[in-house]
Amino acid sequence: MRLSQCHNFHDFRLLARKRLPGPIFNYIDGGADDEVTYRENTNAFDRCDLLPSVLRGVSEVDMSVTVMGQKLDMPVYCSPTALQRLFHHQGERAVAAAAEKYGTMFGVSSLGTVSLEELRQKHENPQVYQFYFHKDRGLNTAMMQRAKEAGVEVMMLTVDSITGGNRERDLRTGFSIPFRLTLGGMIQFAIKPKWGINYVTHERFRLPQLEEHVDMGGGASSIGGYFTDMLDPSMTWGDVAQMVRDWDGQFCLKGIMTVEDARRATEIGCTGIILSNHGGRQLDGSRTPFDQLAEIVDAVGDKLDVMMDSGIQRGTHVLKALSLGAKAVGVGRHYLYPLAAAGQAGVERALGLMRAEIERDMKLMGVTRIDQLNRSNIRFRDTAPNIRQQRDAA
Ligand code: LAC
Repeated sequence: MRLSQCHNFHDFRLLARKRLPGPIFNYIDGGADDEVTYRENTNAFDRCDLLPSVLRGVSEVDMSVTVMGQKLDMPVYCSPTALQRLFHHQGERAVAAAAEKYGTMFGVSSLGTVSLEELRQKHENPQVYQFYFHKDRGLNTAMMQRAKEAGVEVMMLTVDSITGGNRERDLRTGFSIPFRLTLGGMIQFAIKPKWGINYVTHERFRLPQLEEHVDMGGGASSIGGYFTDMLDPSMTWGDVAQMVRDWDGQFCLKGIMTVEDARRATEIGCTGIILSNHGGRQLDGSRTPFDQLAEIVDAVGDKLDVMMDSGIQRGTHVLKALSLGAKAVGVGRHYLYPLAAAGQAGVERALGLMRAEIERDMKLMGVTRIDQLNRSNIRFRDTAPNIRQQRDAA
């Protein structure tokens, strides 16, 4: 299989699986516990249908949106994800450049492998800095200061990872940072020698956002272990309110799932929230962002920007989320498999296909602008009471 043969999420996933050593592929591909939430995230979109309108004159389509004060040429942004250099030596550089080509926002993680400053200097498109609240308060202050000085447009605090999710695939493979593999894991690396040669012949793996503060050379830690050991489970709304004041700009919380928390986010001055269950990687059995979207948009959609991520694989998924009131949606694995499969060319192809799908689907829906999408063009199939309520609320 070649890049030109990848036409959708599943194709990229297969190509990534072919190229990556098992432990790395499974780190991207896996979720928490039984991976129920991971699967449901995408299934949720199939519980409703789009209602197309016809004969509307759709030759010109404008899919731009403004979210968190940023104008995006398409309503999909690249969510921040960790450790990208492991997946392909171009790492975050590839993702930032591909996002720039498509005029959209990209995220840089606290666990990113290229410095936020380098990416901010090289690219014009808006950058989100994904923040983890560490036990080390000095580290938190320094990271925020760095992001501000670099000119990062949007601060995104992840609030669903107060402790590590139970990623059993990683436990089995021994996936850790830095890499110390189990014997089984090493065999996996040995059977993907191309990845290994590529890895050792390019620049060294680094975590530039953290390296001055955290000794990553110490004991190997699983990602779950990192969250549990390094992040501060005592973090409260009061701490975040202080961060929002200190940042004094676009500030959103990633991982909000209830109306009550969404309201609190507005009260402390957040300008956005992202409904997310971390791609099914944290609390298994939690509800899907798509199922929870209408309720939260109804409660706070006029006060801040509501976005969502987790499970989006198709242009129609994007249109469904926007119809319920999301301002934009984030994708993670959707660009990570392409990154692993083919670096920047892969991410460009994935974003290009997504853009083409959205344009085609908007034309088929009879809309030429995103603000023409609303709840009248969507119907839920299921008659379960909570879904009926969402429909009635529309
Ligand atoms: C993960 C973190 C690092 O899901 O975002 O692995």
